[in-house]
Amino acid sequence: MQYKVEIEQLLQEAQSITFACVEEVENYRIRLLGKKGVLGDLFEKFKTIPNEEKREVGQALNALKTAVENAIATAREKFENTVSDSREIDDLTRPSGGENGHRHPIWQIRDKIIDIFSRIGFVVAEGPEIEDDWHNFSALNFPPDHPARDMQDTFFVESGDNTNNISLRTHTSSVQVRIMEKQKPPIRAIFPGRVYRNEAISARAHCFFHQVEGLYIDKNVSFADLRETLLYFAKEMFGSSTKIRLRPSYFPFTEPSAEMDIECSLCGGKGCPFCKHTGWVEILGCGMVDPNVLENCNIDSKVYSGFAFGMGIERQANLKYGVKDLRLFSENDKRFLAQF
Ligand code: PHE
Repeated sequence: MQYKVEIEQLLQEAQSITFACVEEVENYRIRLLGKKGVLGDLFEKFKTIPNEEKREVGQALNALKTAVENAIATAREKFENTVSDSREIDDLTRPSGGENGHRHPIWQIRDKIIDIFSRIGFVVAEGPEIEDDWHNFSALNFPPDHPARDMQDTFFVESGDNTNNISLRTHTSSVQVRIMEKQKPPIRAIFPGRVYRNEAISARAHCFFHQVEGLYIDKNVSFADLRETLLYFAKEMFGSSTKIRLRPSYFPFTEPSAEMDIECSLCGGKGCPFCKHTGWVEILGCGMVDPNVLENCNIDSKVYSGFAFGMGIERQANLKYGVKDLRLFSENDKRFLAQF
């Protein structure tokens, strides 16, 4: 009688037992299923009970054993999961749940420009944002005290006299010099990067913005090569029916120089406030690399010629996305960024 009550109590215990830690589960296992455990005793005593009771008690005893084993298995599983959960949190390569970020619209345009030029053999290079006078101005044929230096309002880091200043680069053209000093032609490369100018911040101007510079130096490079390269770019970037026009311009480091407009994609060329009702928007400056610049970089200007261009990324993002206020690109307002 006592025997059956004991089985019944142990069964109830097995069905309702909870454990605080793995050690408690192990202690329970040893107490019930261990070599000298309770169940072993019960099975030992089972041999001595009267035959007519064996069937009923045998079933109860087996049910108890199953219940104990289940209780232990369930508890172990629970603790194992807890452990692996905390391991997963430590796994920094695990993808995060919820919202995914994406590239900034300026970087999306930058990547697209790189992609378009890499398809026609241009490689990517970069240069420093803090630049000396030689790379930002002098090697690019800006004479000392020449008013052209004022075309670009410079942020000075260290001011010396006119030709040994350190400044934040005002254009990516500085990277042209760095590449030509290091590499022998043929050179076919683009240089994306951030540039700085001391300007009052408004919807149309900012104290920093992004450019992609392009440079191609080889034998017999002509202005026609420049034009076709830029036309290819405009069509890939803004659609195959895009029209371009080149207007004569001036840069100290190119001769002849031009500015390239594309048909305003916000109004389709009809005229709107963004294109100042002209139907055209300027997106880059370009020209044939001035022989003086080649010589400054130890490239023989009688053997080699080349072209260069420099385009603003923000302006193109304006056109592609219809964003009219430049400031939005650097405010990091999630409501703005989430739209791209
Ligand atoms: N560096 C010029 C600018 O920032 C653009 C340019 C690049 C013009 C290369 C000609 C050749 O305005």
